[in-house]
Formats: sequence, structure tokens, C-alpha cells
Amino acid sequence: MLIATKVGMVRPAPNMWAPHGHPVYLRASVEASLRRLDMDRLDLCYLHRIDPEVPLADQLGTLQAMQDEGKIGHIGLSKVTPESIRLASKYSRVAAVQNVLNLIDRYDPALELCRDLGVPYVPYRPLDAGNLAHEERMATALHWLLQLGGHVAPIPSTSNPKHLHQIVSVTANGWL
Ligand SMILES: NC(=O)c1ccc[n+]([C@@H]2O[C@H](COP(=O)([O-])OP(=O)(O)OC[C@H]3O[C@@H](n4cnc5c(N)ncnc54)[C@H](OP(=O)(O)O)[C@@H]3O)[C@@H](O)[C@H]2O)c1
Repeated sequence: MLIATKVGMVRPAPNMWAPHGHPVYLRASVEASLRRLDMDRLDLCYLHRIDPEVPLADQLGTLQAMQDEGKIGHIGLSKVTPESIRLASKYSRVAAVQNVLNLIDRYDPALELCRDLGVPYVPYRPLDAGNLAHEERMATALHWLLQLGGHVAPIPSTSNPKHLHQIVSVTANGWL
């Protein structure tokens, strides 16, 4: 099992999200996640969004420093373009990219770049937030993602143990 989480966004109001990549905030967010999860190390910590108001070197430098301290295992990026991935790779090893990809949002140029770079690509919202979640559509949606390459690892979410079982069996079949 690998525990992954994200830091670097705030919710100023219900249904509103904004990037917040100030080094002090990123550090506090990692520490808060460690406390909440009761862990010494986050296996994979994504920068949720690159904050355009803060130098990228400072944002990744903070996560890198926490990696050196043993508090983060690997650093990932989320919702990024190929250009951002290339730029970020100059500051830090990018261990995973988490971007939206599903049967509705079908195109992301970062998918191919990740394949070329050997970076795991993690499609978020793989069931289009539940719109693709019913019966065969769920299997079709996950199989479509899995056949895009061995570097692709979708992260469907559920709060329902029966759905979890369905997801696991569909995903296991997709890998065979
Ligand atoms: N990086 C980012 O900016 C970003 C943005 C959005 C999401 N994410 C991440 O992506 C992951 C998944 O995203 P998501 O939750 O938005 O969307 P999703 O995985 O596409 O869809 C989840 C929805 O599908 C339903 N579902 C799952 N399996 C089902 C089944 N077998 N039958 C019927 N319904 C089923 C779930 O309801 P039940 O609970 O009832 O099963 C839930 O409402 C999460 O880890 C999330 O943190 C990341």
C-alpha cells in the first residue's frame, strides 16, 4: 500500500479552490498530514497546483527539503502541462503526475511525455466524478485508462465497500 496526498491548495469558500504554494504553508500542510495520518513519512506528496505567485524553485525546494528530512518519500505534480513537468524536473525528481483523464476528458499531452520520461501517470477523476460509474460503464472507463500504458494508474474513489470490491476486481482484470 502506498499513501499519497497533496499539498498546496486552500479552500477560501465552499466549492472554491486556490493555489497556495508559500513555503511556510507547504511545510505546515505536510506536517499536518503527517499528524492526521499518524505517520513519519508521506510516501508520495503531490504539489496540488503550481502557484503562479511563488517561484517554482521555492515550492519544490520546500518539498525537496522535507524529502531530505525523511518526511516525504517521493514528490509528484498535479494538473500540469508538459512544459511544467519539464521545468519542474530541473528542480526535483518528479515521481508521478496526477492529471484529469477519463472517457469524457480524453486528451492530455502529459500522458505521452510521462511515458517517454518513465514517470507514472495517475488519472484523477477516472469515473468523471461518478458519471461513468454505473455497471459496465465503470469497467469500460477503467479499462480504457489501463490500456493507455503500463505507466497509467487511475485512482477511482469510493465511500462504499461494495463499490470498492467492484473497482478492485475490474482493475485487477485490466492488468491481466
Ligand atoms: N489532483 C486533483 O486536482 C484532483 C481533483 C479531483 C479529484 N482528485 C482525486 O481523484 C480521485 C477520484 O476522484 P473523484 O472522487 O472526484 O471521482 P471518480 O473516482 O471519478 O468518481 C467517484 C464517484 O464514483 C462513485 N463510484 C465509484 N465506484 C462506483 C461503483 N462501482 N458504482 C457506482 N458508483 C461508483 C463514487 O460514489 P460512491 O462513494 O457512492 O461509491 C464517487 O461518487 C480522488 O482521490 C481525488 O482526490 C484529484
